[in-house]
Amino acid sequence: MLYIGVDLGTSAVKLLLMEASGKIVNIVSKEYPLSFPNPGWSEQNPEDWWTQVKAGIKELIAGSDASQVAGISFGGQMHGLVILDENDQVIRPAILWNDGRTVKECDYLNNEIGKDKLSEYTANISFTGFTAPKILWVKANEPDNFARIKKIMLPKDFIAYKLSGVHCTDVSDASGMLLFDVKNRTWSDEMLKICDVKKEQLPQIFESYEKVGNLLPEVAKELGLPEDCLVAAGAGDNAAAAVGTGTVGDGACNISLGTSGTIFISSDKFGVDDNNALHSFDHADGTYHLMGCMLSAASCNKWWMEDILGTTEYALEQNGIEDLGKNHVFFLPYLMGERSPHNDPNARGTFIGMTMDTSRRDMTQAILEGVAFALRDSLEVARSLGVDIKKTRICGGGAKSPLWKKMIANIMNLEVEVIKSEEGPALGGAMLAAVAKGEYASVKAAADAIVEVVDVVKPEAELVARYEERYQKFKAIYPALKPVYAQIV
Ligand code: XUL
Repeated sequence: MLYIGVDLGTSAVKLLLMEASGKIVNIVSKEYPLSFPNPGWSEQNPEDWWTQVKAGIKELIAGSDASQVAGISFGGQMHGLVILDENDQVIRPAILWNDGRTVKECDYLNNEIGKDKLSEYTANISFTGFTAPKILWVKANEPDNFARIKKIMLPKDFIAYKLSGVHCTDVSDASGMLLFDVKNRTWSDEMLKICDVKKEQLPQIFESYEKVGNLLPEVAKELGLPEDCLVAAGAGDNAAAAVGTGTVGDGACNISLGTSGTIFISSDKFGVDDNNALHSFDHADGTYHLMGCMLSAASCNKWWMEDILGTTEYALEQNGIEDLGKNHVFFLPYLMGERSPHNDPNARGTFIGMTMDTSRRDMTQAILEGVAFALRDSLEVARSLGVDIKKTRICGGGAKSPLWKKMIANIMNLEVEVIKSEEGPALGGAMLAAVAKGEYASVKAAADAIVEVVDVVKPEAELVARYEERYQKFKAIYPALKPVYAQIV
């Protein structure tokens, strides 16, 4: 049997074809546009996702026996607001996870409703990228659109709906809506009331590894897939990535270096930190996780390389960066504001510390280090909760860089376990489909059988010490600039 994993990302959809054993047969990637209609806004057209998913699936299975495809599932960019009218038409472009327009709505939720209440109802507080404040934004700014909403869904759920006709979501992705009672894995009646949302407008909730239905006959025909091919609910991309890297079980850690950068800590028990600096969400394996999310990670490097330096020679540009832990240039990676742990949509990308001898290479190094320092900020929150993390797995585009992995190992003082495939969410999606079909008894069983560690990057005492000193300096910059950021927006 074959399984398809769909990683519905921010710059592209990645599709992966996997044998039941976990062997990867083919990978295809299809891009779509991302628009920034105002500074800090971020939107995409759900129909573009659907067009590219269909084109991608056809290409993915072209060289294989398509009759063997038994299941499809997903990892999807989280938090995006997709709204459909009564004719199933998309009402407006999706407002994405890295969109910062909802400052006013977050202020209302966090300060008027109150963080304590939000945390009690959902285990989380409001961040600009979360779904609930976006619903309030549409209500306040586009009342005609708000009045037409028949269905609310998350990005990957739109694709699941197009494939199966079932209005579904999964617990891990629903966790990021701020409408969901994470502890009890169900919608929060209080939050629905606060956001003026009716239960009928929301999707049916599934565990990530559950079947939601089969392909619609006309879709199966168009894609050349069997009609009994199942669609499983799938997960938010970080939970799916955790499945794809085997980050399941208590206290396991995964770092994703994609457009966003996340640190994901799986846990058997539900838990919330006092300041809600980390997200407390459901995991795709039936348990829970804590997560810190920075809004711009590999995207900082992409911006620096492609938009500023005008090159796509990533490896070449990193050649010769050897003097680790001594760079006097710092980069604050807040190109889209920042989520974890600062929760500050006004924060901005900043180079600081340049002198007349600063080189292009120092600045490239500062970008890579700045992302690792910012991820450490979230790790420190987890450590302050007593979570003892000594090693992590890693995935995402940035994980291809040996230099970046070395920086992460030494800046965070973690052993970085490199796994055979860096295709976290797409592989995780395919694994969830295989579990839904019954190939494996549980997500953990699938991860144990499929995920393979092929290398370990170990922290080196001398570098850890040098980076510790740099990190303490990095940590002092944001608080000093915070009031300035608020003035320059
Ligand atoms: C997680 C988050 C991002 C997106 C990226 O909370 O917002 O990691 O899921 O696709």
